[in-house]
Amino acid sequence: MKKIIAGSSSPTLAKNLSLEMNVPIAEITIKRFPDGECYVRIHEKMDEAIIISNTYPNENIIELFLLQDAARKMGAEKISVIIPYYGYGRQDKVFEEGEAVSAEKIAKLIEQDADKIILVNPHKEHIINFFSVEAKICDGVPSIAEYFKGRVDAVIAPDKGALEMAKKASEIIDCEYNYFEKTRISSNEVRMEIKDMNVEGKKLLIIDDIISTGGTMIEAIELLNKQKAYEIYVSCIHGLFIENADERILKVGCKEIVTTDTIETVYSKVTVAKKIANLLKN
Ligand code: R5P
Repeated sequence: MKKIIAGSSSPTLAKNLSLEMNVPIAEITIKRFPDGECYVRIHEKMDEAIIISNTYPNENIIELFLLQDAARKMGAEKISVIIPYYGYGRQDKVFEEGEAVSAEKIAKLIEQDADKIILVNPHKEHIINFFSVEAKICDGVPSIAEYFKGRVDAVIAPDKGALEMAKKASEIIDCEYNYFEKTRISSNEVRMEIKDMNVEGKKLLIIDDIISTGGTMIEAIELLNKQKAYEIYVSCIHGLFIENADERILKVGCKEIVTTDTIETVYSKVTVAKKIANLLKN
């Protein structure tokens, strides 16, 4: 029988996936010992396992490895690993000689006990090529765009890296899109500006893949405020919100923050469960 195994990072997403797929959630125990080590036990036999776990923060990586091991030991011949937020994905190549490529190393470790992988919006698409087993990308942008349909006049990417996301969201919302272009003025001065778009009086949605410290979003909001934007909404796929980044973002004049449920917080207003279910079915 097929079972869903919910890692401790993703209880709600696992529940939603279970409802979408009509696949039960297995009874498991996950404990942390006083020294921080992880213990997992799966209480049911299965022939197929769908494990959902982030590789963030660090302790969830070990938890995932142990869940994979336990699933094999309980009979799973096929293991699909769903990684809503692929932590360690930002180091996706050698930028400077001597660096480890964390996105690749973590992939090699996970695939030891996996037959299929699904990553939700990894930081760079080529990361799925680090897996030698079947690996697919689930895109959370349409879910965010649906939420904002009819509510904004334009979608803005805070940098060129998020431009494709902004374009895709704008096509679904049926509105304009643009991005902040960075021009280096001098060695310590960078100018950020939106070219060919007047944002005055407009309702804007800023979209990015990750909000970590919030620095990128705060800078973008402040610039749009200066240009007299009417309302600013902030969205991302993975809301890490390091050191109360959410509160700081709201404080500079953001009307609402919306993220997917890859990292479960109060801002997880849209789910990627249906998209993951479709990828698992095909
Ligand atoms: C960068 O490449 C990412 O797409 C995000 O823009 C970045 O991770 C956001 O980080 P922070 O919230 O710390 O500015």
